[in-house]
Amino acid sequence: MNDASGAENPSTAPTDPGRVALVTGGSRGIGFGIARALVARGDRVCITGRTEESLREAVKELGSDRAMYVVGKAHDEDHRAEAVERVMAEYGRLDHLVNNAGTNPVFGGLADLDLAVVRKIYETNVVSALGFAQRARAAWQGDHGGTIVNVASVAGLNSSPFVGAYGMSKAAMINLTQQLAHEFAPGVRVNAVAPAVVRTRFAAALYEGREEQVLSRYPLGRLGTPEDIGGAVAFLTSPDSAWMTGQTLLLDGGLFLNAGVS
Ligand SMILES: NC(=O)c1ccc[n+]([C@@H]2O[C@H](COP(=O)([O-])OP(=O)(O)OC[C@H]3O[C@@H](n4cnc5c(N)ncnc54)[C@H](OP(=O)(O)O)[C@@H]3O)[C@@H](O)[C@H]2O)c1
Repeated sequence: MNDASGAENPSTAPTDPGRVALVTGGSRGIGFGIARALVARGDRVCITGRTEESLREAVKELGSDRAMYVVGKAHDEDHRAEAVERVMAEYGRLDHLVNNAGTNPVFGGLADLDLAVVRKIYETNVVSALGFAQRARAAWQGDHGGTIVNVASVAGLNSSPFVGAYGMSKAAMINLTQQLAHEFAPGVRVNAVAPAVVRTRFAAALYEGREEQVLSRYPLGRLGTPEDIGGAVAFLTSPDSAWMTGQTLLLDGGLFLNAGVS
């Protein structure tokens, strides 16, 4: 049996072609950075997304012998079922689940926000993460162990004038991480990452046109990259983090250090 540490099972290790990860929203940005980091260390990876062409391109870059894709929306239950079934059919195991697909269709606060938008954000960011976690556990992790990493956000750790509903959903993801860590222990470790602004299409509106001002708040002097997040997720899905569960790793270039007296 694999345990949550990812330690090798001596009875299967000689023929084990590597562990398997499912990364939702993996065709570009942070998800692709995570997929690349996991493939680089020898995992096979399944990525998901809504657009087939970009998934195909991403798999070509990752290596079609190491990666596959399943097209669909994270918030669609049938897609979640198909993705997990296809991973099991192609690769025969599902050691690591990375809930990365996320959405933020609006900028601003909550006071006048259409509640239909809030529901949509929750479906994609929170309900889908739980749905994938349930399916990964039922298909493989419940019997064999594994890890889950939820891609939350610094927006889930504080208020923001820009991303009110998104922040609420990411806070829910952080609590989901704690709850599942407790329920799924000891076989499955569940952790989260909370990145500040990472250079991707998704976040461009947060820094384009005012980059100097944004960067001035980052003690490390730069925004994050998908590689920064990929490295942290590789750690959280490896034996190096074997005694860690229910935690949210802040990846922020020092942004939150600004909370002190200045
Ligand atoms: N960038 C940041 O600054 C930042 C900071 C903190 C947290 N995050 C979180 O990191 C995650 C990834 O963000 P990103 O910046 O890498 O975004 P991105 O560059 O826009 O990439 C998003 C990826 O997810 C896919 N996707 C989007 N909506 C989806 C859906 N409903 N179902 C399935 N796949 C979907 C996209 O492909 P398709 O468009 O083809 O579906 C793409 O592969 C999100 O959860 C986001 O909240 C981002």
